[in-house]
Amino acid sequence: MTGYLERKLRERFGPRPLWALVTGASRNPGVGSGIAGELMAAGFNVVAHCGRSARNPWLDDIALQHRQEVLQLQMDFSDAAAMAGFVNRIEDAVGDAGVDRAGFSFDVIVHVAGISAWDEVAPEIDLAAIQSLMQVNAWSAFTLTQALWQRRRVTAPGGLIVFIGSNHWYKVYSGFLGYAVSKSAIERIACHFAKDLAPHDVQVAHTTLGWVDCERHRIAQDEGRYDYEQACSVLPTRKPVAAWECGGEVLGLLLTPSRIGNSSRLDAGEHLLGQ
Ligand SMILES: NC(=O)c1ccc[n+]([C@@H]2O[C@H](COP(=O)([O-])OP(=O)(O)OC[C@H]3O[C@@H](n4cnc5c(N)ncnc54)[C@H](OP(=O)(O)O)[C@@H]3O)[C@@H](O)[C@H]2O)c1
Repeated sequence: MTGYLERKLRERFGPRPLWALVTGASRNPGVGSGIAGELMAAGFNVVAHCGRSARNPWLDDIALQHRQEVLQLQMDFSDAAAMAGFVNRIEDAVGDAGVDRAGFSFDVIVHVAGISAWDEVAPEIDLAAIQSLMQVNAWSAFTLTQALWQRRRVTAPGGLIVFIGSNHWYKVYSGFLGYAVSKSAIERIACHFAKDLAPHDVQVAHTTLGWVDCERHRIAQDEGRYDYEQACSVLPTRKPVAAWECGGEVLGLLLTPSRIGNSSRLDAGEHLLGQ
């Protein structure tokens, strides 16, 4: 950790151990593991959520390298009713790791877990397909944030909650109706949490990232379902964002706290909260 970053984090959170929750951290490379890795390098212990995969061994290596704790918990977010149970499991896991359970809270929460689909043209898409994208991409992040807040598991004052969206919330690409609807919802959810948690001095951000080099895209490219070069050609950077850069984006939000809900240096789009 750089001296500057360490000083800023200590000013914000004090001398105690730092804890972050990152959902959707099971893939490598992937947005969630990139963020979890950078947070560990910056001195955070991490609760890393995995979806259908049991765990991400890469995160264990990074935790060892930076002498931080990583607790990996698996949960399928397609079951809306399961989210409160997930918070129970988080509380048990941190308690088992020797953390004072009563006073425990997350300094940083990053909602990454999400699914995508790219062959859903509007006249044909099935409502059930949209509903399932909404559940995993939007409702799970909403109910998890609510449950954590109601149980006082969000550091206040000082905490940061990041909702990972997509530029699909404001740009229209054919074939992505369900994904776009879910990402528009997450943007609004972020803005409302930002406004309502502002009096508690909790920072809430929504960020769109850009086109990230991840396992999912690599597989699609290998299977001839996606043209990597073409996808990147429309980006301002003309190259994919590396997964670790997504972690840099989250650390950037911690270093320059603002009430900007929609910001992404990686994706050139910048929109003021609530507008
Ligand atoms: N890659 C990009 O270019 C890009 C750009 C902007 C935004 N994003 C956003 O970043 C997030 C992660 O994307 P990624 O590209 O890193 O994809 P990814 O590698 O496929 O990661 C998705 C994560 O979500 C988890 N997940 C999927 N379905 C789930 C379910 N039903 N329950 C619980 N967890 C589930 C996955 O876990 P399992 O695989 O273990 O099930 C995985 O950890 C998504 O929200 C995506 O919209 C990505």
